[in-house]
Amino acid sequence: MGLWRVRGAGLGINLVDTAEAYGDGHSEKVMSKAIKKVGRDNVFIATKVGGWHLRGDDVKKACAASLKRLGVREVDLYQVHWPDPWSQVPLRETMKALEALHRAGKIRNIGVSNFAVRDLKEARSHLSRVDIVSNQVRYNMLQRAIEAEVLPYCKREGIAILAWSPIGKGILSGKYHDGKRPKDRIRAEEDLFKPANLRATVPLIRELRRIGRVHRKTPAQVALAWLRRHPHVIPIPGAKRASQSEENAGAAGWSLGGSEIRTLGSILNRLRLDTF
Ligand SMILES: NC(=O)c1ccc[n+]([C@@H]2O[C@H](COP(=O)([O-])OP(=O)(O)OC[C@H]3O[C@@H](n4cnc5c(N)ncnc54)[C@H](OP(=O)(O)O)[C@@H]3O)[C@@H](O)[C@H]2O)c1
Repeated sequence: MGLWRVRGAGLGINLVDTAEAYGDGHSEKVMSKAIKKVGRDNVFIATKVGGWHLRGDDVKKACAASLKRLGVREVDLYQVHWPDPWSQVPLRETMKALEALHRAGKIRNIGVSNFAVRDLKEARSHLSRVDIVSNQVRYNMLQRAIEAEVLPYCKREGIAILAWSPIGKGILSGKYHDGKRPKDRIRAEEDLFKPANLRATVPLIRELRRIGRVHRKTPAQVALAWLRRHPHVIPIPGAKRASQSEENAGAAGWSLGGSEIRTLGSILNRLRLDTF
């Protein structure tokens, strides 16, 4: 998944996000080829340690394995993929291991993913020399749970939000609103893709198209620009093809106007989805 984004390097995209969990290391290996092509210094590499590797020694081994697969000496951002839901490993142990990796020059920044505010507070309390720079969480126009607590907390504390699923797994592009179904089983079973939800989001897609025409942008680009109304939010769209990567890069360098944001906000507030 990172490959297309690295191929987008000429488009001004330089952040690539992967994880040891993606394809059991395959994604990192694919990314290493792309990194070699565009040059290490032109890419900001973010990867993640899986939730099953949170013991101190395991974090260090997982990091070494990721560096090897990526073919680099250090990564720019090393993230805890998700907090241990069973609390079997004290967060202190994980964070101390990350700090040791930072000290050793293996990771340039420490990040987390899918952390609630209480997890963030605890994780930060265990760091003495550096702070957490980012929290990677699900955020798109249809899935806005982070707006209640995580988004304002991170803004206040200067922590960047890396927004995953920023196009709602493709739904905000509008292409699934004319009868087309996603081919993969994961999305076919996802709440967002239920026929009732596709029907409920028709007014939103219509407005994304209308605003897009004004700016000569696509609905996906408008949906990404909507996230960027918060300066501390960095959308990390996935792309299956180079053309999608090119399109997503076109969400940068312009902004939605205040009245467009308000119109979209009132449509979103009226939306009732059959989900979560
Ligand atoms: N930290 C975590 O727990 C976590 C979890 C999930 C994802 N992530 C990260 O977030 C990234 C993005 O999330 P995501 O892939 O779930 O969701 P997304 O970016 O909202 O959607 C990506 C999918 O939408 C379609 N698409 C992308 N650009 C498009 C465009 N311009 N027009 C039309 N369709 C487009 C593609 O699928 P089709 O062409 O098949 O429709 C693509 O695979 C991932 O690559 C990963 O790095 C992190």
